[in-house]
Amino acid sequence: MSYDDAIAALSNDALKLVKDNYIVGLGSGRAATTLVKSLGKLIRIKNYNIRGVPTSLQIKLVAEKVGIPLVEADQVSHIDVVFDGADQIDSQKYVIKGGGGALLRENILFSLAKKVIVMADSTKFVKNFTRSVPVEVHPLARNSVISSIQKLGGKAQLRSLDRGYPFFTENGNIILDCDFGTIKNPKVITQKIKQITGVLESGIFLRKPDIIYRAKTGGKFDIL
Ligand code: A5P
Repeated sequence: MSYDDAIAALSNDALKLVKDNYIVGLGSGRAATTLVKSLGKLIRIKNYNIRGVPTSLQIKLVAEKVGIPLVEADQVSHIDVVFDGADQIDSQKYVIKGGGGALLRENILFSLAKKVIVMADSTKFVKNFTRSVPVEVHPLARNSVISSIQKLGGKAQLRSLDRGYPFFTENGNIILDCDFGTIKNPKVITQKIKQITGVLESGIFLRKPDIIYRAKTGGKFDIL
């Protein structure tokens, strides 16, 4: 089942939050891509003076193609609004991110943002998290972090590409996908993960979105 029509419709609705002269955070992934394409059109039509802050090369390429002027996160003092996707959203409105490996930059943007908007299809909404948590780790801390995750009750697996090559983030780090089973207290587990030496970021973000868009079937969406 495709949620593409709903993501396109909710993107246009979410873009009502964008005003002239805004600094806009551009998340990564499929939902963010749809939104960035619509943002490009909006800028052209309204002649807005917008600057986009990309979270990955993936979204940077899309933004360049649709003509959004870009700036890096370290060149701005704040971001007016960030638009991003998510891998899972629990009933407390915590999100898991990092399916594409962009979690560190995404969380930096969340921390700079006045408003965070997350967009996801209805299959990603759960009562408690069930999927593995991506954790960005310095390559030299691989084994020490794997055993620390084990002590927290998790099972860490190195994210790999085809033929066993490790996946490296744009920051030169590895990702450990950590299975904790069902996560009932995301805040506590995240605080513990972030205390491990060598961990750069956890895929569970402590900053909750201000607005969540849920794409439904038939091109419809609702707002949580
Ligand atoms: C990138 O690392 C992720 O955090 C994405 O934002 C997340 O995986 C959602 O992507 P989709 O919109 O492609 O599902």
